[in-house]
Amino acid sequence: MPVNLSGRSFLKILDFTPDEIRYLIKLSRDFKDLKRTGTPHRYLEGKNIVLLFEKTSTRTRCSFEVAGYDLGMGVTYLDPGSSQMGKKESIEDTGRVLGRFYDGIEYRGFSQELVEELAAVSGVPVWNGLTDAFHPTQMIADMMTIEENFPMGLKGLKLVFMGDARNNMGNSLMATCAKLGMHFVGCGPKDLWPEESLVKQCEAIAQETGGSVTVTDDVKEACTGANVIYTDIWVSMGEPAELWEQRIKLLSPYQVNKEVMSYADANAIFMHCLPSFHDLNTTIGQDVHDKFGLTEMEVTDEVFESEQSKVFDEAENRMHSIKAIMYATLR
Ligand code: CP
Ligand code: NVA
Repeated sequence: MPVNLSGRSFLKILDFTPDEIRYLIKLSRDFKDLKRTGTPHRYLEGKNIVLLFEKTSTRTRCSFEVAGYDLGMGVTYLDPGSSQMGKKESIEDTGRVLGRFYDGIEYRGFSQELVEELAAVSGVPVWNGLTDAFHPTQMIADMMTIEENFPMGLKGLKLVFMGDARNNMGNSLMATCAKLGMHFVGCGPKDLWPEESLVKQCEAIAQETGGSVTVTDDVKEACTGANVIYTDIWVSMGEPAELWEQRIKLLSPYQVNKEVMSYADANAIFMHCLPSFHDLNTTIGQDVHDKFGLTEMEVTDEVFESEQSKVFDEAENRMHSIKAIMYATLR
């Protein structure tokens, strides 16, 4: 059946069929070719979008901006510091107003319920640019990056997420791998395992697609034969800085280093949504070093800078895939 996502919001991967997800990955690769060959693609001229950010961003914000301009659209960026949003006016009311001006709304914030509410009231497609629960636009870029490295296809590949397996990235990767017939392993301490109900839901999806879902605290078992080793920061946006001490204790055994990579398949790749603490060139990295003596956290600099690391291709693919998501839903 042909895929038609026109008018749809993009709130979480669980809302989409495997065919719809594969369509978005293919479209992202097509847009990458257009960009790389300098072929104009102002397919959405005359439309306007607004980007609402309650949390900070580099990749997601710039991807929406550049993708919007490349597609010929007008783009407005709003955050709580430069608008009434959140302080004098609720996000829902902001969405109801902006839905009258704009053809699509991006929202990055805290609760998943809020972005769902925004989509229900605004009357235009809403794209989830990250909530505490999910980061769906990142998923299309990630799967596109994996496909670029494994041209035989995604089905049957083993992806291991190391660390805080119940954060927005762990949840999203578990759902996406399940949808695409991949073998997902969430590897971290029991205290940070994903919610049982979401694991069950993803297991049921994986049964249909030929994939699987495993959650474990055994690093060697998890990473043996893996095709993709993925990690994320240990304290996410919106979580208090006091958590660093506890997270360092809990998650240090799950750092991605050379030994971890050696358990994986010889052709395995390393991925990270970024930003990453792999050296001391950030204020938080420096602060953690001063307090706890660590020079690198979720991934060693050696792995981050290695041939196996695809993190900058992955970051580039955010732009192409966000373009595909906007085009598919606004066309
Ligand atoms: N990966 C990601 O979402 O990056 P930003 O926080 O910079 O948008
Ligand atoms: N888990 C991270 C992802 C950043 C893209 C966070 O929410 O801060």
